[in-house]
Amino acid sequence: MLIDIIAGARPNFMKVAPIIRSIEARAMAGASLEYRLIHTGQHYDKRMSDSFFEQLGMPAPHLNLEVGSGPQAAQAGAIMERYERVLLDSPPNMCLVVGDVTSTMACAIAAKKMGIAVAHVEAGIRSGDITMPEEINRILTDSITDHFFTTTRQAGENLKATGALDNQIHFVGNTMIDTLLINIDRLRAPDVVEQQGLQAGEFFVATLHRPANVDVTEQFCSMMQAIAEGASGHKVVFPVHPRTAKNLQSLNGIPDNLVLIEPQPYLEFIWLVKNAKAVITDSGGVTEEATVLNVPCLTLRNSTERPETVDIGTNVLVGTDPAAVGPALKPLFGSGWKSGAVPELWDGKASERIVDVLEAMAREKAA
Ligand code: UD1
Repeated sequence: MLIDIIAGARPNFMKVAPIIRSIEARAMAGASLEYRLIHTGQHYDKRMSDSFFEQLGMPAPHLNLEVGSGPQAAQAGAIMERYERVLLDSPPNMCLVVGDVTSTMACAIAAKKMGIAVAHVEAGIRSGDITMPEEINRILTDSITDHFFTTTRQAGENLKATGALDNQIHFVGNTMIDTLLINIDRLRAPDVVEQQGLQAGEFFVATLHRPANVDVTEQFCSMMQAIAEGASGHKVVFPVHPRTAKNLQSLNGIPDNLVLIEPQPYLEFIWLVKNAKAVITDSGGVTEEATVLNVPCLTLRNSTERPETVDIGTNVLVGTDPAAVGPALKPLFGSGWKSGAVPELWDGKASERIVDVLEAMAREKAA
């Protein structure tokens, strides 16, 4: 059974790496599973893409569609057109997509229209906020998915509410956490730690890249100011996403305790999260990592598609009002933060469970 594994943007790479590793191990042991790794080229910088391949021991992609940046419809269109050509030339038996980026949705659509089965890893999560491009991608992808691999029981319930059948849903856990646990003993302190004399537990890490937070200059500037002030003299390490970099010039002076650095490779970024006093973010994936590492996490969004990080993890939804940031940080300087637990099946074995299912399908197909 030939499976196309699609990876396009930074948060995809840590989700597919352990799946590839498990498929390779199973194939070595005789399973009739083959894969093609297809990089759409949505993210192309060394810091947004190549460094992840190197650090996570991923094979070079079999194909790179090289779509590059652009408005979302243009980017999605280019991915569909180029992937369709690949499918016409050499159709796989399955297209496996992960997460919720433009590449996820575009490849799922191209494959499904060619009659190829679609598997979606991290299916069924919903923020309920249809203004987010990722929520649109999730809904569209899941509406044409044949095999759903879910990170939580709630995600399965969300899918059933839209008509998915029990036998299409496989609750397997979280492949991003597989990658976290595989690499936990390989983390590396980035240069900024020595340069700035950072002490574990004494600095913050912040990441912002959502259109709602960074595309509107006024909102972005007030948010950065509020984060710097709320940190009460502690340094805030801020790896700047390319989307965010465009707006940095509009900041009216960079606050003294804000340490701007380039996007970090995986091992360095997770080192920062693990050793931070707290993480301030608008990313979804980072809230999962902070939960498993038991690091306090503040999410600068009004909703989350990962409610378990709030209900049982270390995450708190602060919202997007800059005035809420200071008060939300207060417990870190006084009463302390809630302590979190690890969600069910976030145990480092999600990819093995996914490949169990794929192997059973391959056997059925061969019979
Ligand atoms: C995308 C995902 C988002 C994910 C994020 C992680 C969608 C709709 N959004 O958002 O869910 O959390 O990736 O990073 O798919 N750019 C570079 N170098 C690159 C890639 C992008 O400089 O390697 C710049 C481009 O100018 C581009 C901008 O960053 O216009 C935004 O990139 P894009 O892929 O459109 O979306 P992200 O905001 O990164």
